[in-house]
Order: sequence, then C-alpha cells, then structure tokens
Amino acid sequence: MSTNQKIVIAVDGFSSCGKSTFAKTIAAKLGYIFIDTGAMYRAVTLYAIEHGAIRSGMIDQKAVVALLDEIEISFRFNPQRGASDIYVNGELVEDKIRTIEVSNMVSPVSAIAEVRRKLVAMQQAMGRDRGVVMDGRDIGTVVFPNAELKIFMTADPKVRAQRRYDELTAKGDHVTMEEIERNIRERDTADMNRAISPLRQAADAVVLDNSHMTVGEQMQWLDRELAKRL
Ligand code: DC
Repeated sequence: MSTNQKIVIAVDGFSSCGKSTFAKTIAAKLGYIFIDTGAMYRAVTLYAIEHGAIRSGMIDQKAVVALLDEIEISFRFNPQRGASDIYVNGELVEDKIRTIEVSNMVSPVSAIAEVRRKLVAMQQAMGRDRGVVMDGRDIGTVVFPNAELKIFMTADPKVRAQRRYDELTAKGDHVTMEEIERNIRERDTADMNRAISPLRQAADAVVLDNSHMTVGEQMQWLDRELAKRL
C-alpha cells in the first residue's frame, strides 16, 4: 500500500463506543468519505415507525419489508457538523433517528434479511471507489471483508452509557441512565446473537479499547496502525 493509495477503513464494534466520532475524525484527517451505517438502519426503523409497521414496540416484519422499496436514503455533507446528514425521501432525519424510541427498535429491524440486503448493497456501492471510513457492526466481516484496515472498537459499558447519556441530555432528551444502560445491553446482545451478519470481530481486525482515551490519543493510535501498513 502506498501513501497516496486510497483504502477502505472498517470501524466495527459495540453500541456507543464512539465509533462515529472516531470514524468521522479519521475521514477528515485523510480526506475520505465517512459513512455511518448505523444511521441507515435507524432511518429504516424511523420510517417503519412513522408508517405503522412498528406499533407499541411490536414489529410487523412483512410490513417493514413491503416499505423498503419506497425508502430512498441519501447523505448530504453538512459543513457545520463536518459529516454527512442522512435524508429519507428528501427529508432530513439526522436528529429524529437518534431518539431512544428508534434506538429501542433498531436492533430487531436490522436483523431482517431484506433490510440488510438492501443496505449492504448501498454501502458496497458507496465504497466502490475506496477512500471511505465506514462504521457499523459488519463492515469488516461482510460489507468490506477486504478492507485494508479493520478496527474493532470496545469500551467499558459504564463509560459508553455515560457518553450516550451526555449526548442525549445535551440535546434536551429526557432519558434516564437506567434506560440507556438497558438499551445498550440489549442492543449488544441482539447484535451479537442475530442469525445474519452478527457483530463479530474480524480475524484480521485490530482492537481499540477507548474507555480512557481522548480522541487525540485515538488518532495517535491510528497513525501507528496506518504506519505499520504503509
Ligand atoms: O451504530 P448505531 O448504534 O447507530 O447502530 C444502530 C443499530 O443498527 C445497531 O444496534 C445495530 C444496527 N447496525 C447493524 O446491524 N449493522 C451495521 N453495519 C450498523 C448498525
């Protein structure tokens, strides 16, 4: 790999580990495109809630699948955030997909085979020209098994819950720490145990536990990993 050759960087790992923040920072540093694949599963979940395929916490899988053809997901760069915002059928949904209601339903929606088929195909198309940093659960194992750098992120569950709590309360959401801890625990279990593309550390992934690391320290870690490969 030469220094100017564009590569694919896969960032997988548990919920609320700071994958998106890290992936976004890497993309800005390298001039790459950052793709938050969790946002895509959240967007489908939001659409299913808003169109009656999920009611009172119950998912009608057939109804979700029937909606898939009418869901058009796109990303547009937002210079203020330094990352792309997600749109569904032209509507900006970046904030609406981050609520606890969506978080509580996204894991079962992401376990539906047809949902994964559609979103994985989109993700592979977005990374076709390389030069992408993609974060998710199955990027290094399924979406880009040939990614040149695979990072598997983890962090102490308490630290993760605190980060998610701070993020949501800063936006004015009324959530309790208990609710967040339960959501993270349940999503990790569901994501690791689903039949299709479960959350797994790829055999050739490097592990990053960022429980006690600043973003700056994570970037120094990244530089060392890139240097080993260039
Ligand atoms: O990264 P996140 O927490 O926003 O992801 C939301 C959910 O989407 C997560 O609980 C599992 C699912 N997901 C997935 O199954 N595969 C991906 N590549 C990304 C997310």
